[in-house]
Amino acid sequence: MSIEIPEGLTELLQSFTVQVLRKQPEDLLEFALQYFTQLKQSQSQGAPFSHGMGLPFSLTKGVNFAEEPSMQTDSENGEEDEEDFVAPVINRFSRRASVCAEAYNPDEEDDDTEVKILFPKTDDQRNRLQEACTDILLFKNLDQEQMSQVLDAMFEKLVQCGEHVIDQGDDGDNFYVIDRGTYDIFVKSDGVARCVCAYDNRGSFGELALMYNTPRAATIVATSVGAIWGLDRATFRRIIVKNNAKKRRLYENFIESLPFLKSLEFSERLKVVDVIGTKTYCDEEQIIAQGDGADSFFIVESGEVRITMKSKSKPDAETNEAVEIARYIRGQYFGELALVTNKPRAASAYAVGNVKCLVMDVQAFERLLGPCMEIMKRNIANYEEQLVALFGTNMDIADPST
Ligand code: CMP
Ligand code: CMP
Repeated sequence: MSIEIPEGLTELLQSFTVQVLRKQPEDLLEFALQYFTQLKQSQSQGAPFSHGMGLPFSLTKGVNFAEEPSMQTDSENGEEDEEDFVAPVINRFSRRASVCAEAYNPDEEDDDTEVKILFPKTDDQRNRLQEACTDILLFKNLDQEQMSQVLDAMFEKLVQCGEHVIDQGDDGDNFYVIDRGTYDIFVKSDGVARCVCAYDNRGSFGELALMYNTPRAATIVATSVGAIWGLDRATFRRIIVKNNAKKRRLYENFIESLPFLKSLEFSERLKVVDVIGTKTYCDEEQIIAQGDGADSFFIVESGEVRITMKSKSKPDAETNEAVEIARYIRGQYFGELALVTNKPRAASAYAVGNVKCLVMDVQAFERLLGPCMEIMKRNIANYEEQLVALFGTNMDIADPST
């Protein structure tokens, strides 16, 4: 039997719970009575509800975070005493009321006033959240303090099959990390919506509108029941966008120097920097396994990567030694083939010594690297020639039907 959760119930109970935790009332029932009575009164007057505790919030749709006076600034010493506890009073499921005109300039982000949002979580929620965030590239360059603020601020949202989590053209309210469930991505152009890709129980979406203050660039529709973790716009901009400014300073020149990205405009190359994360590997560590499904693309930042392949005709035979077919150093890329052909990884990749790679997820790869496809496809033709010389066959690496 499936029970539908009424719209608004989760926010209502969470806001109430936060007030209880904050105020610690002796008579819980009396407190609840007052809380909900005031809420009802203010709602019927059409005004945003303020419960007299300095924490106004609204249950109506269309809250504009830029005007939301619900956040408290951190105390000078950064410690959270009871008064510094910041309640999750934002109606995070509401859409922003208007397209925000702030331009993207991470260097000028106003984060002098530190704002912390905390959604209390059960142990199970915290474990699931940590697991879901492990491979989120946008979080990879955060320091420990930033990461823990992000995790504190995230909230769980259950999703019904068929639900539109994001609609193209809307204003951006939250960034989402997938806990579970499958989601289709639709992009509308010339009035026709086309499913361009999908998420399968992992990944994240909703960063573009928050990073660049643009309308949502795609529609995300759940194709199963699921759960996602939301991060509000203000926290996203304060931590992730700010961190992107640092990333740009670190990687702008490197990305600029890569020959295979030369077909991209300058602004497109900056977007590449914004979405990449870094991953490090120790000597001999496997980066890619032949035959695995693929969801990311790699650029070597430092160290050396060894590519090996087992013959496809006898992949499990004991005698089927992996043959080294390539080595990559700083500035070279790998892991594009499976993304281009939509097939499993054609070869394995291992670190030689310590290795650092820039990593991009498949959705960003498809969205941003289209103009570089000609160069990549030429390289794929070279792989095939090399494989014919080595194994007497091109191993069908580029044939999407096999
Ligand atoms: P945003 O524009 O905020 O909301 C829709 C999200 O869909 C977008 O951020 C990306 O995170 C995600 N997305 C995935 N694939 C695409 C795509 N091809 N074009 C645009 N957005 C995409
Ligand atoms: P992918 O198949 O995604 O993962 C393994 C990667 O090894 C592959 O992409 C290429 O980037 C890289 N590679 C290097 N040389 C070859 C080759 N001859 N055949 C296939 N892949 C190769």
